[in-house]
Amino acid sequence: MAKEFKRYLVTSALPYANGPVHIGHLAGVYIPSDIYTRYLRLKGCDVISVCGSDEHGVPITIKARKEGVSPQQIVDRYHELIKKSFEGLGMSFDIYSRTSSATHTQTASAFFRKLYDEGKFIEKTSMQYYDEEAQTFLADRYIVGTCPKCGNDRAYGDQCEKCGSTLSPDELIEPHSAVSGSVPVKRETKHWYLPLDQYEGFLREWILEGHREWKSNVYGQCKSWLDGGLQPRAVSRDLDWGIPVPVEGAEGKVLYVWFDAPIGYISATKDLTPDWEKYWKSEDTKMVHFIGKDNIVFHCIVFPSMLKAHGGYILPENVPANEFLNLEGDKISTSRNWAVWLHEYLEEFSGKEDVLRYVLCANAPETKDNDFTWKDFQARNNNELVAILGNFVNRALVLTKKYFAGRNPACGELTDYDRETIAEVAAVKASLEANIEHYRFREALKDAMNISRIGNKYLADTEPWKVVKTDLERVKTILNIALQITANTAIAIEPFMPFSAAKILKMLAVDKFGWERLGAMDLIPAGHEIGEPALLFEKIEDDVIQRQLDKLAATKAANQAVEAAQHVEPQKDTVSFDDFQKMDIRVSTILAAEKVAKTKKLLKLTVDTGIDKREIVSGIAEYFTPEELVGKQVLVLVNLAPRELKGILSKGMILMAEDASGKLRLLQPGDATNNGALVG
Ligand code: MF3
Ligand code: ZN
Repeated sequence: MAKEFKRYLVTSALPYANGPVHIGHLAGVYIPSDIYTRYLRLKGCDVISVCGSDEHGVPITIKARKEGVSPQQIVDRYHELIKKSFEGLGMSFDIYSRTSSATHTQTASAFFRKLYDEGKFIEKTSMQYYDEEAQTFLADRYIVGTCPKCGNDRAYGDQCEKCGSTLSPDELIEPHSAVSGSVPVKRETKHWYLPLDQYEGFLREWILEGHREWKSNVYGQCKSWLDGGLQPRAVSRDLDWGIPVPVEGAEGKVLYVWFDAPIGYISATKDLTPDWEKYWKSEDTKMVHFIGKDNIVFHCIVFPSMLKAHGGYILPENVPANEFLNLEGDKISTSRNWAVWLHEYLEEFSGKEDVLRYVLCANAPETKDNDFTWKDFQARNNNELVAILGNFVNRALVLTKKYFAGRNPACGELTDYDRETIAEVAAVKASLEANIEHYRFREALKDAMNISRIGNKYLADTEPWKVVKTDLERVKTILNIALQITANTAIAIEPFMPFSAAKILKMLAVDKFGWERLGAMDLIPAGHEIGEPALLFEKIEDDVIQRQLDKLAATKAANQAVEAAQHVEPQKDTVSFDDFQKMDIRVSTILAAEKVAKTKKLLKLTVDTGIDKREIVSGIAEYFTPEELVGKQVLVLVNLAPRELKGILSKGMILMAEDASGKLRLLQPGDATNNGALVG
């Protein structure tokens, strides 16, 4: 039997305050969490939803350094931006806190200190890279060198962004510090570790035995971590940004961001209510963590072990992690600016907040990675929101206005078809509830939309606009039912599309209904006067979509240019001066050029080398037309051993530079000079 809970604590992964929020975050974490919370509130449950900015960690210090500002300035900027844009999208957190708050510092320090005092950590020394010039230990991200896998000379100590390999600083070729550029040395340092291996038994029993109902992606990841064997994890770092390790002799050390951040859920609850303990310490509370798949280990293995070690706290009842959302076929990336940013969307699509909420839920990566495309966004808006939901609500309201001066007509005798329709609407509730309670939000959204689908079909089948000519009494019943269905729609879509739900209620001129009223057919009393009908959704035209696609295309082009520019061939082996002196390179003028018959790439060039006039065959026909070459001064290696190409004896080589994109460029003297001038 399912356990009964008295209250709910909903948490949403605290976004890093080092960049804005994008659609991947929304689809993975925040939209599902908001749907769940709104649903519970509408049901009248005791529920709180907490979130906030995750303001510690190395990436924030790197961003600050890059911009020449303090980490605090970075987190202030993004905390405000994220908070505001969440509000803009209708995220209904009860509190949006931050981990640089005093409450949090105090809470996280006390948490650490308790574990420390009770001997729950192990202390270990290890050798870490240290920058002697900057006098600082270096986080893996701060060590740069050449990737052993692909040769990228800007690989980080934890990862190569070019080939995607996970690295350790020891694997980097020629590692140097990103702080000072100097070559780091290894130095001994002490850290505190949470011995996760000691919690394996507890975790196995709690998750593998006790939570078989968790989503298979989550359960599977936990199982593979546990089967792989858990290791002690360092919970401190040598860094000057974060919560100081609250222990003597720990100068220069802070709590590891993944130690303090989840405690942020507790701090946020404290900031919200003095009654916070009942949400965290009572077995009657159902705690649910909404996260993305990259957070699973921290929320299912590490944080629960911390809570267990501390004692007195409840554990999450479920962790419905989502997979990732891609954008137009490519992985969303903050550093490559491959994203749809929430704050930009809100500016460019003002009034269409629910459209994004709808599309991201309908397309949520619940069981596998999914793709967001602007075409799909447009199609879902035009074919589903406008054509089904908007259309139904509009017809019900406009017809009531037209035939009954905006007063809800009384319902007369029901036909069998009316009764069937009413039963169909009533049946939605159970399915919708089951789907939300099992975190199947895509299915739940379909259920919610079904009500207006049913309504649309009802109007299409009963044709009040025709019947009105012969049987006004019948039309009264039809429109009364249509208005009841409209009010039902407002209830059902509220968790998903709160702005539209509110608009419908306003048009109906009624107050918000509780969830228990879903399915009822007496929501709007007979004689009630409705408000002014207005369009709920509007069609999105091609040019609007094209602008977004153009924006992405520009990003892609810019990224390709940057990547190409970053690729430089490593230096070749040293040559002696004498070796170089053997190369006889002369300024020459191209006198004639023609394609070599039956070849695609070859041009036959006649050049004046100052020494003589000779023929050179060059594989450059794809890059230059004969006409553009004639008359150009170029550099020619004249003493290259001649060789025959397609029956022509080629005597020398035109010097070219090949850029990162593979394009060839002529090398020319800066000023016109005499043919035969020696290069060297
Ligand atoms: N900032 C992390 C991320 O974006 C999530 C932190 S969740 C918390 O991946 F539990 F640690 F707060
Ligand atoms: Zn690499």
